[in-house]
Amino acid sequence: MTQTALITGASSGIGYEMVQLLAAEGYNLILVARNHVKLQEIKASLPNQQVVVIAQDLSLPGASKLVYDKVAELGLTVDVLINNAGFGRVGAFHALTLQEQMQMIQLNIAALTELTYLFLPDIKKRQGMLLNVASTAAFQPGPFMAVYFASKAFVLSLTEALAEELAGTGVHVTALCPGPTHTNFGKVAHAENIKMFARTMDAAVVAKKGWTALKSGKQVMITGAWNRVGAFAAKLLPSIVAVKAVRTVTRVKKEQ
Ligand SMILES: NC(=O)c1ccc[n+]([C@@H]2O[C@H](COP(=O)([O-])OP(=O)(O)OC[C@H]3O[C@@H](n4cnc5c(N)ncnc54)[C@H](OP(=O)(O)O)[C@@H]3O)[C@@H](O)[C@H]2O)c1
Repeated sequence: MTQTALITGASSGIGYEMVQLLAAEGYNLILVARNHVKLQEIKASLPNQQVVVIAQDLSLPGASKLVYDKVAELGLTVDVLINNAGFGRVGAFHALTLQEQMQMIQLNIAALTELTYLFLPDIKKRQGMLLNVASTAAFQPGPFMAVYFASKAFVLSLTEALAEELAGTGVHVTALCPGPTHTNFGKVAHAENIKMFARTMDAAVVAKKGWTALKSGKQVMITGAWNRVGAFAAKLLPSIVAVKAVRTVTRVKKEQ
């Protein structure tokens, strides 16, 4: 029977590349993001696939339940959940608005947690798969991207814990931890001028590594050799050293 995958943040970047990978493997797809036009274009580009589009701002309270109810109403059952939607913002904590940082928490943490909670019973029944997109930001605090780094630490922690809870059940759970990747993320985060984004990986390569890791049951996938070295170093170094090192690559030149 054809399996169904729900991908959040499907309209661009890593999520878009995930869509291409799963479409190539014949999955029925449920695509979630805000940009309805882009989602419809993606659907139109996949004429051989059963594609359902749900245009939804996941940073709004209650949005995940709306998505879940819509999927149920359509009579669909999710085998694979890819929680990919997320955004960051560069700037000192008080230079950013409270609203945008709360929105980040709502999207990166709350929506991801709610969608996981709501869809996991079906995924368990069907021995399906859960991929949460964290980041190398998860491995240490991130001055000048404080809330973003903290949000990704949450995603990694939650995902590793769930992977252990579900060990032996046949459900695959993976945290994908990309480093800087060439997508809209840099523009949305105003990160184009920071050192951290001087070199980026290709989104298609990152998505492929995440998808392959999920299928093989790998719990954490850090993309790129240097990113793996960085994550390893962050575990070994005293926290204060790691935080100072991050500061050198996240600080905008004229930061307040
Ligand atoms: N690029 C990097 O350097 C990098 C590194 C590590 C981790 N990541 C993580 O990778 C994931 C994907 O990001 P990306 O790099 O592919 O960036 P991207 O190209 O900006 O894609 C973000 C996706 O999330 C969707 N999205 C944003 N806000 C949303 C909202 N409020 N409700 C629903 N959907 C929303 C966007 O679609 P709409 O605008 O249509 O809503 C888009 O499809 C994120 O979780 C990000 O934190 C990225």
